[in-house]
Amino acid sequence: MHQAPVIVVKDLVKSYGDNHVLRGIDLSVERGTMLALLGPNGAGKTTMVRILSTLLKPDSGSVTVEGNDVTTHAESVREVIGLTGQSAAVDELLTGRENLVMMGRLYRLTAKSAAERAQELLEEFDLVDAAERPVKTYSGGMRRRLDLAVSLIAAPPVIFLDEPTTGLDPRSRLVMWDIIQNLMDKGTTILLTTQYLEEADKLADTIVLIDGGRVIAEGTAEQLKAQVGQDRLVITVQTKSGLKHIQTTMKDTVANIDTDALKATFLVEGDGTDIQAILGTLKKKKIPVASIDIHKPTLDDVFLTLTDTKPQQLQEEGDL
Ligand SMILES: Nc1ncnc2c1ncn2[C@@H]1O[C@H](COP(=O)(O)OP(=O)(O)OP(=O)(O)O)[C@@H](O)[C@H]1O
Ligand SMILES: [Mg+2]
Repeated sequence: MHQAPVIVVKDLVKSYGDNHVLRGIDLSVERGTMLALLGPNGAGKTTMVRILSTLLKPDSGSVTVEGNDVTTHAESVREVIGLTGQSAAVDELLTGRENLVMMGRLYRLTAKSAAERAQELLEEFDLVDAAERPVKTYSGGMRRRLDLAVSLIAAPPVIFLDEPTTGLDPRSRLVMWDIIQNLMDKGTTILLTTQYLEEADKLADTIVLIDGGRVIAEGTAEQLKAQVGQDRLVITVQTKSGLKHIQTTMKDTVANIDTDALKATFLVEGDGTDIQAILGTLKKKKIPVASIDIHKPTLDDVFLTLTDTKPQQLQEEGDL
């Protein structure tokens, strides 16, 4: 049986004065999956998260979380969500443990349950050693982990993570990814924003790219990569004459020639048949090859290709 999506956003619009941040966003998140919201700085990711988590009112459009409308049933929405904001929301002067217990009490846990839940989370997030220290002595990575722990105190089924790994070193980022993966394994529905395309690629089931107030691309990482283009085969040859040979005899298939670097680039299908044919031709023509590289499109390519078109799009809209 098909279940209704947990988060449904329809034609969401939000402006700050003349700044039309969201101009009609549609998206939905299925139960137990992660949607990653990508977009350049200022695209409106935090604005989206704040609306979805009831902290900010939209101008128009509708948002439901577990069937509850965020504007008319904000209380019910708050009961099922956890939020880790872009800027830390923990109290600097309290210890890690005190922050957790305080949040537990705010969620109306008994003193005993709050203490137990705090201990559980300190262990899960590897913060036991730092538990009795004031948060102002924590490193950035420890703070981010505490931030996420605090938002999980009531074990919410839906979580919003606004750039949970920004500013973390590579090791701390891996720890955070593990923690997030664990949440997903437990069936938590997650909406995450990130600047790290690698993060979206690794964790998310669906990626939504927003820019200029609109959704400009949507799909799995693979689908998005397929949209921006084919694999590239880059052949580095040993001699200039070899490169010339390619330029003249394979001019219908070669996409780019870099004379300085002695490289010829071909666009190829992912199944390998093109590559075989090209290598066969090189062998037959006795062109000496120094190295072969195959570049698959990355999410970076998607991001740069699609968000690059923004100024032009806006101009066209302005012309209308
Ligand atoms: N309270 C506010 N008042 C006025 N303008 C705001 C307010 N909050 C955000 N904005 C503007 O709305 C736009 C979107 O901001 P938002 O914080 O949602 O972007 P973002 O995608 O989260 O960016 P980043 O990647 O830098 O976190 C920006 O132009 C920002 O200046
Ligand atoms: Mg933001």
